[in-house]
Amino acid sequence: MLMMTACGLDFGTSNSTLGIAGHNQSALVALEGDHTTLPSAIFFDFETHRPAFGRAAIRSYVAGGEGRLMRSIKSVLGTSLIDEETLLGRRRIGFRDVIGLVIRHIKEVGEQAAGRELTHVVHGRPVHFVDGDAAGDARAETALAEIARSCGFQDVSFQYEPIAAALAYEAQITREEIALIADIGGGTSDFSIVRIGPDRAGKPDRVDDILANDGLRIGGTDFDRLLSLEAVMPHLGYRAPLNRAGLLTPNHLFVDLASWAKINFLYAPGVLADVRRLTREVQQPELLERLATVLEQHLGHALAMKVEETKIALSDADEVAVDLSLVEDGLKAPASRAGLARAVADPVARLGAMTADCLTQAGITTDRIDAVFLTGGSTLLPAVRAAITGALPQARIVEGDKFGAVGYGLTLEARRRYG
Ligand SMILES: Nc1ncnc2c1ncn2[C@@H]1O[C@H](COP(=O)(O)OP(=O)(O)OP(=O)(O)O)[C@@H](O)[C@H]1O
Ligand SMILES: [Mg+2]
Repeated sequence: MLMMTACGLDFGTSNSTLGIAGHNQSALVALEGDHTTLPSAIFFDFETHRPAFGRAAIRSYVAGGEGRLMRSIKSVLGTSLIDEETLLGRRRIGFRDVIGLVIRHIKEVGEQAAGRELTHVVHGRPVHFVDGDAAGDARAETALAEIARSCGFQDVSFQYEPIAAALAYEAQITREEIALIADIGGGTSDFSIVRIGPDRAGKPDRVDDILANDGLRIGGTDFDRLLSLEAVMPHLGYRAPLNRAGLLTPNHLFVDLASWAKINFLYAPGVLADVRRLTREVQQPELLERLATVLEQHLGHALAMKVEETKIALSDADEVAVDLSLVEDGLKAPASRAGLARAVADPVARLGAMTADCLTQAGITTDRIDAVFLTGGSTLLPAVRAAITGALPQARIVEGDKFGAVGYGLTLEARRRYG
């Protein structure tokens, strides 16, 4: 008999999950300790030459081991970077190979849990990897399929992440509903409006049940970048005046340092020297000296982690002092919920507008939506929730498993397709 085992794989910008499609039951696998999530992070240790993954990768980086941390690598899909290489000490590695290492690791952990090889996979994908570029979307999906095959999956198929989340929600309801699914993650925001119900689950063709499906390349890593530029980067010289009247420091250094997927580019030879030169041209050199410290000591990810922690803390608190003592003893940057809301106002407004667009696509009025199912870590952000639920005041709000719903839905889909 042909032995095939199917799984659902949610390779996320920030977190990944994998579920095994069983005959009677489908469940997510513990990918790291007891956690079903694995932060999509990899640390290349220059001493042991063995990569570490997930929380262990972040721990190795924080411990100051000689090496290179990479996070948010899914963001390179849909950009030309996917076919490029990045520097690892003295050697180079392609971004495809980096993604491949993470996916292979997840597959191996899943195989240990299943006790057999995983051969078939339903891979999640955002509705759009890139905004308004169908060819770019297709290239990104092809790249992901090629990577998954190179990791040993024999059969690779895709499902949209919000549709997967809808399937997870469908498994818990007892009567038919029209639901708006909002999956706001680290890299993308995905929406669908679906007709779901116990009698519809498992039907082979659900095309008629998908009333709208759309998305934007906006996510938590963008909110991190905007908060960083608002509250932290000015302390490192962002928009600082130069000695020559009317000129400010160039933005790109600070935008890259505030962007998870770009941080490592700042460690390329030459950038530190440029910053040192710039230090002599600004009115407050002490600010640029902090930037030089960050580049010299490779503190970019540590700084980004502080910003992300602050963003999360501002979901509960009105004000938080960002501890920047890693850059300079006693340095703190004040951040407020109002400041965060201001910094993310534009992209958040676009999420609200997309909610309304999806209703137009579906050809229904707001009162027809029974429930709004919220999943993805960024739906924990008050401004994001308000933008989505504010457009649907009558609908019931359903708190989905913020980090597991997509992976679980992909696993249900794997059972239906391959079981
Ligand atoms: N309490 C919180 N408040 C605000 N944001 C949060 C909170 N908890 C987590 N996040 C954010 O959620 C994001 C991660 O969410 P999630 O794991 O759903 O993304 P992902 O699935 O990896 O990304 P994507 O689906 O876009 O590829 C991160 O940007 C993280 O900072
Ligand atoms: Mg996700």
